Amino acid sequence: MCGIVGILGNEAVAPLIVDALKRLEYRGYDSAGVATLENGRLDRRRAPGKLRTLEEKLRREPLSGHAGIGHTRWATHGTPNETNAHPHATERVAVVHNGIIENYRELRDDLAKQGVKFESETDTETIVHLIEAELNNGKTPEESVPAVLSKLRGAFALAFLFKGGDDLMIAARRGSPLAVGHGDGEMYVGSDAIALAPFTDRISYLNDGDCAFLTRKGVTIRDKDGLGSVVERPVQKSNASAMVIEKGNYRHFMAKEIAEQPEVVGHTLAHHLDMSAGRARIPEGIDFAKLDRIAFSACGTAYYAALVARYWFEKFARMPVDIDIASEFRYREPPLKEGGLAILISQSGETADTLATLRHCRAQGMQIASVVNVPTSTIARESDAVFPTLAGPEIGVASTKAFTCQLATLACLAIAAGRARGVLSAEDEERLVGALIELPRLMAETLKLEPQIERLAKDFSKAQDALYLGRGTSFPIALEGALKLKEISYIHAEGYAAGELKHGPIALVDEKVPVVVIAPYDTLFEKTVSNMQEVAARGGKVLLITDEAGAKEAGGEFETLIVPTSYAFVSPMIYAIPMQLLAYHTAVFMGTDVDQPRNLAKSVTVE
Ligand code: M6R
Repeated sequence: MCGIVGILGNEAVAPLIVDALKRLEYRGYDSAGVATLENGRLDRRRAPGKLRTLEEKLRREPLSGHAGIGHTRWATHGTPNETNAHPHATERVAVVHNGIIENYRELRDDLAKQGVKFESETDTETIVHLIEAELNNGKTPEESVPAVLSKLRGAFALAFLFKGGDDLMIAARRGSPLAVGHGDGEMYVGSDAIALAPFTDRISYLNDGDCAFLTRKGVTIRDKDGLGSVVERPVQKSNASAMVIEKGNYRHFMAKEIAEQPEVVGHTLAHHLDMSAGRARIPEGIDFAKLDRIAFSACGTAYYAALVARYWFEKFARMPVDIDIASEFRYREPPLKEGGLAILISQSGETADTLATLRHCRAQGMQIASVVNVPTSTIARESDAVFPTLAGPEIGVASTKAFTCQLATLACLAIAAGRARGVLSAEDEERLVGALIELPRLMAETLKLEPQIERLAKDFSKAQDALYLGRGTSFPIALEGALKLKEISYIHAEGYAAGELKHGPIALVDEKVPVVVIAPYDTLFEKTVSNMQEVAARGGKVLLITDEAGAKEAGGEFETLIVPTSYAFVSPMIYAIPMQLLAYHTAVFMGTDVDQPRNLAKSVTVE
């Protein structure tokens, strides 16, 4: 993970770098650092913890150099302390790194045998000592970097500064993303265009294996780790916003993002539906009628969106669906059909495992489509067809509005597939589209349950473990509810298909374990009620989340939260909201860092 920034500027760049790093903090936030060239000499400031600690340090001990690199870290090798923070440096070279050097142990052992002393536990420090060795052999910085890159295995985005090289920055990419920003007499590199948005909207994206040699006048890019030919990477106009993203009147980004859902789901639906015709727009470039199955792959919450989508594609389009957690997909070596369709789902569009899956499917000759929230992301750029979610920037680490927008997009696609395959009649389609059009209003109604959920959360925050149960599309929502709770409140939670309860997890049930049951009043309701009775019979505390009819049927026997009645089809987007609010308020009661929970990062760019 980690975010990196580099600037060749015409004023003190450290404050600008810190500003850009704030926009990259979603990639990691356990330590940060900046190095600049001060009269030809490298100097750096690093600090453990959030960026504000580095900012304070820079206020006490400012850096005035006009060329600099910066880093915000999500620790892979070594604890998040100052020594392990980037930039790593010797007297002659400083580097920031996003990724993992897989062969760092053997490289480090070799260097240690040559008498090199390491100060940190990181894989990255190996790189600076390898560069030193090349410089000692009389190579120039421009020669040293490609020579070192060819020795590295793993994934990296790197930016280097060199002693005496006030008008030189070298950057390289393999696996991890890296963008070059073109200014007027200034040049930039950054992990994404959003980081560079305050400085420039002219961006070129490096390809894997590219090495970029930057001066204030421009950039020369060579492929093959800098050893190949000079290549052109087109300068694109980025529409990444330079606006500072604010919490407004909300206490946390997560609260704001939960509240935004009716609006952003509405935008997403408007993009994928022709509302006046009651039709889902048929996506360009994908002929669902010609496909025999779809392979979905994603991680975390996006994976749960795929699990929900499977029910829709199977029901409305009669299409078999394979779903894999992206980190498992390519190692399972599933037989993939040339010309078949893989759909990758990702909020960030940068998740390393999802991207690797995309490339694996591409290598097997599959068509690639993606459901992504960041249109400039690597996954979007490498897809044949992109189905955007219009959630807007999601800052809270816990995914909320991106999830419901993914579901909205996938629902529209499933309808389009059903029509293309002749499974849905025009009336069926109109009915389903009608249910989606109603959705933003129902989501807004559901948000009104917040005060009641806040009260429930007070009790919930006393639990050490919780279970979430659901059947049908409510099963993935149970998984999502459990994930939300554990990632921000640190309460251990598990989601299960309600029918699985008696196959093991019921052993956990006692009066201390709350059991959240997601059960809209549908064809599966009665069966879920039986599972609730099994919990109650063992002294378990059920929280039933259902609609008016379900509450009536349950007869007031259980603590119940009543959400608006909807078509069963759209219920996942509605029931996701109480899952989010329950986790949010529980975490607030527990006093955790809701937007940046411990050990996590928003964008997981390492395997
Ligand atoms: O950016 P992506 O959608 O690819 O991210 C996938 C997961 O890392 C992400 O959904 C993660 O599980 C969230 N923290 C869940 O809230």
